[in-house]
Amino acid sequence: MNTLHEYATIDSLRAALAVHRQAGRRIALVPTMGFLHEGHLSLVEEARALADVVVMSIFVNPRQFQPGEDFEQYPRDLAHDRALAEARRVDMLFIPEVTEMYGGGDEMRIVPRETAARWEGEFRPEHFEGVLTVVAKLFNIVQPDVACFGQKDIQQYTLIRRMVEELDFPIQLHLGETMREADGLARSSRNVYLTPEQRVQALAISRALRAVEGAFEQGELDAAVLRGIARDILDGEPDLITDYIAVVEPERLAPVEAVDAGSVVAIAARIGSTRLIDNVILGDEDV
Ligand code: PAJ
Repeated sequence: MNTLHEYATIDSLRAALAVHRQAGRRIALVPTMGFLHEGHLSLVEEARALADVVVMSIFVNPRQFQPGEDFEQYPRDLAHDRALAEARRVDMLFIPEVTEMYGGGDEMRIVPRETAARWEGEFRPEHFEGVLTVVAKLFNIVQPDVACFGQKDIQQYTLIRRMVEELDFPIQLHLGETMREADGLARSSRNVYLTPEQRVQALAISRALRAVEGAFEQGELDAAVLRGIARDILDGEPDLITDYIAVVEPERLAPVEAVDAGSVVAIAARIGSTRLIDNVILGDEDV
């Protein structure tokens, strides 16, 4: 397939997908909130290698924003998104209105427990409930064979994996590595909020993760020591407020005392009113 088709309703998307399914084509889903960047587009590339038809959803999901967060201001540029999606050969774009997604009612939620209460969950209590509910809906709407998510949002991915496992969604998951700017800053739709000065300070996050990774490669396994290395670098930036430095195992993101390959180090920090997250999987080669 080559031309980009766009759907605003669940019914029209389902009808088009039925044709592909009947032809025996494998379907991949890349869920996004739009304002596309290389992180999203790298997931499209990976999806194209895993399936015959790539569906991308663009939906700024109000239920995953906390009151007072940036739902209204969240950056949007559908014309640019369409052009990027077409250039990267997305086959089907699903761009529903809020009423289309939530017109069915407001009774039901996917409510995650322990893994969602930690880290991001402490700062955004209902965030993952909103994410999992919309992702479950997208899974039911598209019924993809494979769905692609980015490592940048590692807690989100971990919870989606748990949901798929525990609720028996017949969907293969694919984790795409974090795409970065040339200077190391993880790509994010929210990076546009940063002033040039804030952006320089924000680099401490990826620098801290690289330093932790380096210490691990030199044989440092003590989580407290690794946290201290990250803390020192983050504290060097006066305007950067660290929300957490998590040194955790990958299954439920519970803290560990000693790390090994596969352990995750995740950081969240605020600068001005912008909140940034980033992480590394120790033993990986991506930072
Ligand atoms: P959004 O922030 O638009 O991200 C969409 C997908 O792109 C997610 O899987 C995210 O992890 C991935 N992504 C973002 N930045 C990335 C980067 N720098 N490198 C690689 N992948 C990156 O995450 C969401 O939207 C929403 O919560 C969603 C899953 C769509 C549910 O509403």
